[in-house]
Amino acid sequence: MSNIIFKANNIFKSFQSAKKTKLEVLKGISIEIESGKITIIVGASGAGKSTLLHLLGGLDRPDSGEVYYDNKDIFGFSDDKLAKFRNKHVGFVFQFHHLLPEFTALENVMIPQLINGTNFNNAKTRSEELLHTVGLNER
Ligand SMILES: Nc1ncnc2c1ncn2[C@@H]1O[C@H](COP(=O)(O)OP(=O)(O)OP(=O)(O)O)[C@@H](O)[C@H]1O
Ligand SMILES: [Mg+2]
Repeated sequence: MSNIIFKANNIFKSFQSAKKTKLEVLKGISIEIESGKITIIVGASGAGKSTLLHLLGGLDRPDSGEVYYDNKDIFGFSDDKLAKFRNKHVGFVFQFHHLLPEFTALENVMIPQLINGTNFNNAKTRSEELLHTVGLNER
């Protein structure tokens, strides 16, 4: 039985570089990620690892190609539905932290839960537990 949770199909992604030349980062990448396994992507700095992960996580859109999560084409989703997909199904540890600087550590952990409809007190309790688990409850 297939246990593929993520599938990328012939992904192309390029960026416009300063001199108007096109920097082609991903050129026809296909990958299948199995559920319940740890998958490691290895490559030289600048090879496009973060670019690929941003596409798998629905944070950026490819120039062409598809990404399927649980057999659903995520770039066929509206922006709202894509945001819900990220909120419910994607946990992303960024290379840079991307915390919201106006908010405390606790509030940063609470915000995705509040967006997902958890009530304030439950989100607060759960976030305190999570911060405690990783030793950041005093921050
Ligand atoms: N938003 C962007 N605009 C322009 N160029 C970009 C952008 N994002 C990434 N790049 C370029 O695309 C290439 C791939 O970058 P990426 O961050 O995916 O590499 P990486 O494999 O994650 O590298 P590292 O190991 O250093 O984290 C690099 O040359 C980078 O400069
Ligand atoms: Mg990277």
